[in-house]
Amino acid sequence: MTCDRIVILTGAGLSAESGVPTFRDAGGIWAKYDYRDVATPQGFARNPAQVHEFYNMRRNAHASVRPNAAHEALARLEQSYPGEVWVVTQNVDALHEGAGSRNLIHMHGELFRALCGACEKSRPWHEDIGIETPCPACGKKGAMRPDVVWFGEMPYHMERIRELLERADLFISIGTSGNVYPAAGFVAEARANGAHTVELNLEPSEGRSLFAEAIHGKATAVVPAYVDHLLVGK
Ligand code: APR
Repeated sequence: MTCDRIVILTGAGLSAESGVPTFRDAGGIWAKYDYRDVATPQGFARNPAQVHEFYNMRRNAHASVRPNAAHEALARLEQSYPGEVWVVTQNVDALHEGAGSRNLIHMHGELFRALCGACEKSRPWHEDIGIETPCPACGKKGAMRPDVVWFGEMPYHMERIRELLERADLFISIGTSGNVYPAAGFVAEARANGAHTVELNLEPSEGRSLFAEAIHGKATAVVPAYVDHLLVGK
């Protein structure tokens, strides 16, 4: 198989072995929290303090997590592969860039950025956010929010992602349950454009039947092995 352009979609399962909880596995984030309360614009309008508390807790928990062997393998692939490699992540953590990935798109935003709903300026952010936190740019209080994409909002960089999917000849999906669109639809788009499609996940995802190939196991085992196969096979 000769692939000049690889697009890799990643989800929460990639970071699970770094100690970051997934969303829909048993004991995952959505088993403990109602996403309508903490991950929708309506939930934020109803109770912004509750939403800030949820993201402050996650931001603080993420401060000590480190990339695992799967993040490192994907960074190695980008650095060593003779073709083009892009990672499109649904994850809001900073573990891909921590491992060294540079061709990276955060389609669901970033936990370590804050967005002002008034002036729409986004900036790196590592502290807690509260309902009284002023925007450093426009000074308005009460409009700061984590720069993450909530349910009902349009993911970031969709035009760029669609361009990459159109040109990809290999599409790999890693650690995502395939429940959330538009990301869950990328496999069908890539396939329609002629790409070979591979799922690397702990278990068959919702979209398993859409992939030409699937390897099931823990990300820290199957991702480095698949990267080795790509680097040796080229
Ligand atoms: N290795 C590989 N895969 C794993 C591992 C692991 N160690 N642990 C769990 N998984 C798999 C699970 O089997 C599951 O299929 O990762 C997937 C995680 O699925 P979700 O929890 O649904 O996470 P994700 O698909 O990334 O969620 C998409 O939903 O709530 C939103 O915005 C949030 O970006 C997120 C989006």
